[in-house]
Amino acid sequence: MILVTGSTGFIGSEVVRLLSQVDVPARALARNPDKGQKLPGITWVAGDLAKPETLPAVFENCTKLFLLTGNVENAVELQHNAIVAARQAGVEHVVKLSAFGASPHSNSLIGRWHYQIEKELQKSGLAWTMLRPHHFMQNLLAQAENIIKNGVIYSAAGEGKIPFIDTRDIAAVAAVTLTQPEHIGKKYVITGSEAISYRQVTEIIGAEIGRELRYIDESFDEARARLTKAGQPSWLIESSLALAAYQRAGGPTETITSVVADLTGKPPRTFAEFAHDHAAVFRG
Ligand SMILES: NC(=O)c1ccc[n+]([C@@H]2O[C@H](COP(=O)([O-])OP(=O)(O)OC[C@H]3O[C@@H](n4cnc5c(N)ncnc54)[C@H](OP(=O)(O)O)[C@@H]3O)[C@@H](O)[C@H]2O)c1
Repeated sequence: MILVTGSTGFIGSEVVRLLSQVDVPARALARNPDKGQKLPGITWVAGDLAKPETLPAVFENCTKLFLLTGNVENAVELQHNAIVAARQAGVEHVVKLSAFGASPHSNSLIGRWHYQIEKELQKSGLAWTMLRPHHFMQNLLAQAENIIKNGVIYSAAGEGKIPFIDTRDIAAVAAVTLTQPEHIGKKYVITGSEAISYRQVTEIIGAEIGRELRYIDESFDEARARLTKAGQPSWLIESSLALAAYQRAGGPTETITSVVADLTGKPPRTFAEFAHDHAAVFRG
């Protein structure tokens, strides 16, 4: 039995859909299981990674774990609780959703957190696979309101080129690593097949929805002010701006890998495909 965490989010919801599609039974952990999509072979169970006492029943008889939480301030604690529960339940293999550039030296707090959890997992005695995806195409969905109301897309990444990845392709890689044995002990950097700038992203979405959009190349101070006004906590803003600084500078952040094609047999979705599939959201 595979236990999927983060199963109501972008990646996890697609992981359970893909497992259901290939008739692999799975249990989906959710704080509110009523939010889960009803799928053949998928059992939704109530559990909260912040409440370790809810976990033994959820983890019972599970042999594999897909480990993901959102960017929340207690992510390290939540994932620690999941690793402890997995060991106690006799889970054999954990596939951890980490991040591109996870490192103790990352300027981004999120990059350092992911590295910390990777290390804990590696020392836990459990078999592991690390998935390190690059910047999500789905991040643009958070800018739908800017597009609809003002015809603009903001970024502090300047003209930096980013190999955006669709979360549906990350989920496809996760499903493969959860169901085939040869991925134990591997770290996979998951990217799209083309590195493009936010200015190009703006052009692609504009062309898809038939509207001229403007790219706003923000300074870090402008981005900080806008995101603060939007209600984001400062740790998340600083973490995102640290990533934008890497992207603005270019270099290693432009790295493209063939992991999606190698593991799934299909090329990763292009940004144009993503824009086409989400045109209704961007049109409003
Ligand atoms: N955005 C990027 O460009 C990027 C790039 C690389 C890596 N990443 C990493 O990707 C991950 C986010 O993936 P995503 O976008 O698919 O996630 P998401 O859509 O934000 O979903 C987060 C999931 O975590 C669950 N969760 C949160 N707190 C929980 C708790 N206390 N107990 C149980 N479940 C809890 C949420 O469940 P509820 O329904 O209960 O809220 C939800 O299913 C983060 O670790 C991030 O660092 C992001």
